[in-house]
Amino acid sequence: MPLIFIRADITKMRCDAIVNAANPSLLGGGGVDGAIHRAAGGGLLEECRTLGGCKTGEAKLTKGYGLPSGFVIHTVGPIWEGGTNGEEELLRSCYRNSLAMAKERGFESVAFPLISSGAYGYPKDRALKVAVGEITDFLTDSDMLVYLVIYDGKSFRIGEKLYNDITAYIDDKYTDEHSFYDRSREEGRLFKARKARPFAPFEGAELDEAAPVLCDMGAAAPAPAANAAPAPKTSLDDYLKQIDESFSEMLLRKIDEKGMTDAECYKKANIDRKLFSKIRSDRLYKPSKTTALAFAIALELPLAETKDMLMKAGFALSHSHKFDIIIEYFITNGNYDVFEINEALFAFDQALLGV
Ligand code: APR
Repeated sequence: MPLIFIRADITKMRCDAIVNAANPSLLGGGGVDGAIHRAAGGGLLEECRTLGGCKTGEAKLTKGYGLPSGFVIHTVGPIWEGGTNGEEELLRSCYRNSLAMAKERGFESVAFPLISSGAYGYPKDRALKVAVGEITDFLTDSDMLVYLVIYDGKSFRIGEKLYNDITAYIDDKYTDEHSFYDRSREEGRLFKARKARPFAPFEGAELDEAAPVLCDMGAAAPAPAANAAPAPKTSLDDYLKQIDESFSEMLLRKIDEKGMTDAECYKKANIDRKLFSKIRSDRLYKPSKTTALAFAIALELPLAETKDMLMKAGFALSHSHKFDIIIEYFITNGNYDVFEINEALFAFDQALLGV
């Protein structure tokens, strides 16, 4: 199942367990520790008193008491001392031990804050990399819905160079909505995106209506890059068959062509198994734009084939949407890491791939 970045207050999340960035005493503190204790109420502190503290990198479990989540996994992150005192390994073990504890208890959903990135001073972009790395490693062979909860924008940092490169790429490609709208209105090609799938992991979560998507079907696909892999040779018969194939049929064909297993593909796409099974069993299934793109990324399709696959789902990439431009940036740069793309999309306040 997927990793989801979400901007929220972790004390309001409704999961099997939330993770607390505690201190070795486990007797509460500031930051997320203080927020969790306040929301849980006195029962949490009473139980913490019986645990005898917690070593850095380790994890201990309590009930959730007044929290909407059933349990709290308390873990103690390292204090940043410049990076030469084994801080990274200790931070990794916070995620590993917390995830192992959740798996052992059969939890299906768990929410993490960005451990050590606050009072403990761990550089935010490095803390994010450790968190995403450990969680995605765990998800390659475990089924769990994992939220990485970002409480305030400033605590979320992707690498500065990447951020600046993407900003420059957006500035270069972005066409304002108005002019783009005129062109697509003439061609009468306006597709209304479907409602976002229902998804409410915490009180008050809004189901957001996806914005109408302007599709410029006329945009010629850019010539394949000089070093692009030659498109697979297709017989006329196969070609005619492919014209009529549905999104689902194209997806399954491309999984075979890439020599991937279904599981490899949907995990790489950050898509959960149940959604993949729905797509596999319904040849006319119409995925959301973010789902269709997540599979194109997982299959590492060049831009032209990505547009073909997107069109099967009734969408296209357009330069009047930052989301589309950021996806194009990563494909053009040959970076198909769906989690790195999601970090960038999250940093630019865009929808995420997959989930
Ligand atoms: N929900 C989600 N995330 C939150 C919340 C919240 N309600 N409040 C804070 N955060 C985020 C911070 O923005 C930061 O990104 O949690 C991350 C971790 O910050 P801290 O809570 O300061 O934790 P940490 O850096 O691990 O330091 C732990 O601080 O609170 C004390 O007792 C704690 O001594 C321990 C130390």
